[in-house]
Amino acid sequence: MFSTAGRCGALLAVVALMLVATVTPVALGTRVTTTKSGMGVDGFAYPKGIIRLTVKSTEKWQYQPDGIILPAASELQVEAAKEGNKWTLHNGDCALTVTSASPQLSFQFSCQGKPLVKATASDNVEALPEVNFTFPAARTMYGLAEHAADLPLRGDAVYEMYNTDAFQYPINSTKALYGAIPFIMAYSAAATSGVLFLNPSETSVRINSEDAAPSCRWQPEVGVVDLFFLPGPTPAKVQRQHASLTGATVMPPYFSLGYHQCRWNYMNTKDCLSVDEGFDQHNMPYDVLWLDIEHTDKKKYFTWDKYTFPDPKVLTTALASKGRKLVTVKDPHVKREGGFAMHEEASKGGYYVKDANGNDYEGECWPGRSSWPDFLNTRTRNWYAEFFHDDRYPGGGRDIHTWVDMNEPSIFNGDKGTMFKNAMHTLDDGHTVSHGTIHNAYSFYSIQAVYKGMVEAGGAKATPERPFILTRSFFPGSQRYAAMWTGDNMARWDHLENSVPELLSLSISNFPFCGCDVGGFFFDTEEELFVRWMQAGAFMPFFRGHAHLDTKRREPWSYSPASQPIIRNALALRYALIPYLYTNFYHAHTKGNTIMRPLFFEFPEQEKLREVQNTYLFGRAILVQPVAQKGATEVTVPLPAGTLWYNYFTGEMATGGTYTMPVDLNTIPMFLRGGHVVPMKLRLRRSTYAARLDPFTLFVALNAQGNSYGDLYCDDGTTFEYAKGSFVHRTFSFSESTLTSSSFTTDTPASNGVFAVANAVERVVVYGYSGKVSKVVLTTAHNAIDMATELDFEQVGATVIVRQPKVLVAADWFIAFENE
Ligand SMILES: *[C@@H]1O[C@H](CO)[C@@H](O)[C@H](O)[C@H]1NC(C)=O
Ligand SMILES: *[C@@H]1O[C@H](CO)[C@@H](O)[C@H](O)[C@H]1NC(C)=O
Repeated sequence: MFSTAGRCGALLAVVALMLVATVTPVALGTRVTTTKSGMGVDGFAYPKGIIRLTVKSTEKWQYQPDGIILPAASELQVEAAKEGNKWTLHNGDCALTVTSASPQLSFQFSCQGKPLVKATASDNVEALPEVNFTFPAARTMYGLAEHAADLPLRGDAVYEMYNTDAFQYPINSTKALYGAIPFIMAYSAAATSGVLFLNPSETSVRINSEDAAPSCRWQPEVGVVDLFFLPGPTPAKVQRQHASLTGATVMPPYFSLGYHQCRWNYMNTKDCLSVDEGFDQHNMPYDVLWLDIEHTDKKKYFTWDKYTFPDPKVLTTALASKGRKLVTVKDPHVKREGGFAMHEEASKGGYYVKDANGNDYEGECWPGRSSWPDFLNTRTRNWYAEFFHDDRYPGGGRDIHTWVDMNEPSIFNGDKGTMFKNAMHTLDDGHTVSHGTIHNAYSFYSIQAVYKGMVEAGGAKATPERPFILTRSFFPGSQRYAAMWTGDNMARWDHLENSVPELLSLSISNFPFCGCDVGGFFFDTEEELFVRWMQAGAFMPFFRGHAHLDTKRREPWSYSPASQPIIRNALALRYALIPYLYTNFYHAHTKGNTIMRPLFFEFPEQEKLREVQNTYLFGRAILVQPVAQKGATEVTVPLPAGTLWYNYFTGEMATGGTYTMPVDLNTIPMFLRGGHVVPMKLRLRRSTYAARLDPFTLFVALNAQGNSYGDLYCDDGTTFEYAKGSFVHRTFSFSESTLTSSSFTTDTPASNGVFAVANAVERVVVYGYSGKVSKVVLTTAHNAIDMATELDFEQVGATVIVRQPKVLVAADWFIAFENE
């Protein structure tokens, strides 16, 4: 992942290897043809039937972003069968035909003989790298994140991709936002496929009218045609194929799944400590306190304001004593101030992006006159990474993590709020390339540098820890290093409502670790909106409250006493779900799954769910529909057919179809999916650290056959040792009236038995039990002798609660229900 070798590189290689089990040697692609005007057409095959096709000049060098496609994604030899002006590239069950009929090249990607994608491009070197796509087997297109728009792509609209610092952005808009994933998923119940168009220049995609087969016109401004065709055939498979190319999500440090408290700005150490105290006084859990730009000495990052934060260790030590963390913002712009080490080194060392005249690029940002590191080259990334090292970052250490804002990059006096397109970057091989050519990928390289710096910060002798990084701007590959959030939203009901489709779009475009500013960044948040946003945030992979400098204080206890217990309930529910969420992240990280899943994605055979965008699966087993309407007294939830659903709070069972339920301010429409076990920690604590030894409650939601299955993954939450097998992974399965706890056996690598957990199970809750229970018997093995113990239980209707089995969550045991 990094071109420098060493501990960190080797370690990351282990992580990358986990994703793709077999690594065949890299073979070159196959030259399919060279067009009359000198365009080379090359084909490459990747595992799982994926085919890549590039069209670029054979005469002049052209930029292609480096390091985004995983090296572990091996290139297989393509068989090219020539037939006149038509060639067919085979890869397993899939094939790509290339037809050259000057001035046009046309492509058809088919799997098992079914045409999935048809595309046309120009064969002329002077033409734009434009491609028209049609998806003949599909019905609806999704993707092109990031947009504050509906989840399905809308016809007769142009989706812009040009990473930008969008100020007070409107919703239901296809204007460019902070990040770009040039990817489309084309769905129907019969066949879902995907296309990734790896070109980081300013791009617009016109979605044609919705009347015809889904089609679009994709227009990058410059650069090469570089297409990846993903065969599916299901949405979940397209997602995993996408992750096999650009990487699965980063494995989050455990604490980062807790609640984060941010504000522009917590003003000084005392203010911070009182916010921290406030959570404890109000019995509200949180894990991370954040510092925005004002904590620095005049917006020079990696420094501290000497009056407001004279000794940062006071703060980190106080937080760490409760197991909590600090995140500080480190934006990529560098203040041009004599004597500032970062600036002095950058200008002397030639680390800055250059303007068209070859001088350091200068622009205005938070600190005033600024320049930007040229993250496109390894030399600059290695230099920048050093600023995270413990010997360079005052007050640093493993309890401080990183927020990277403004990395589009945002430039106040630039062009479209960013760098002029004629600014120049220098690549490792010495080529220079204009900013316009690389723009959308700039933030990817900035985050690579941050990740490297943080992993190696403790020095060669320290055990590396997983960094937590939040990035505003992103491109494919950024998900390997960081979480993202949707930038500067507003405290409005429609922004709350739209945040779900926006995050779902990101989630199925391979950015699982996503969230939005809870409460809305701009403007004051009315109490009801704040409560609803905290409830929604509890079901977002990244959960952070944040607010603009001009807003009223908004810590979760700032509203009326009546709202406090409701907000506390939302926080408590989030914390209860973290073991389940972490388990889902492990699957996402190792297999390329995602976390938030639209209904069509999880139930692809039910095409009528394809427009649903406010109801979703949070992981595999929980369906949620956050309330986003002011004054709501009732909501209607579309429950997918063919599955039993259980109201989490009451155990009430519902079959598929629209489900109408009354809601008050305390209601979160949340359902357990029949057939799934959800491990939770129900005791209210101050932080994930404080809950680490707590016992589990296992929720067992039965399907129509009376079965259920689920798992629980635990590791140290901090280091990379899990990649060597230091974890505990358990399965819980319920069948024939018996709940069995056993080891999860199909991990690669398998557990090495080094890591242990001592948590007990304090409760088992079974939903949907059809018999009348007369006796519950626990069987454990002691020295190979089975011991049977009768357990306390209570049955109300179809809900059975078994109390205090007091078994270890990591031990083998079974609990059998006997009927009257
Ligand atoms: C794409 O389609 C448009 C019409 O919709 C056409 O004008 C354009 O030439 C096509 N481009 C390519 C590369 O096929
Ligand atoms: C968004 O705009 C489209 C028209 O472009 C419209 O069909 C759709 O209903 C709007 N969505 C919302 C949530 O308002």
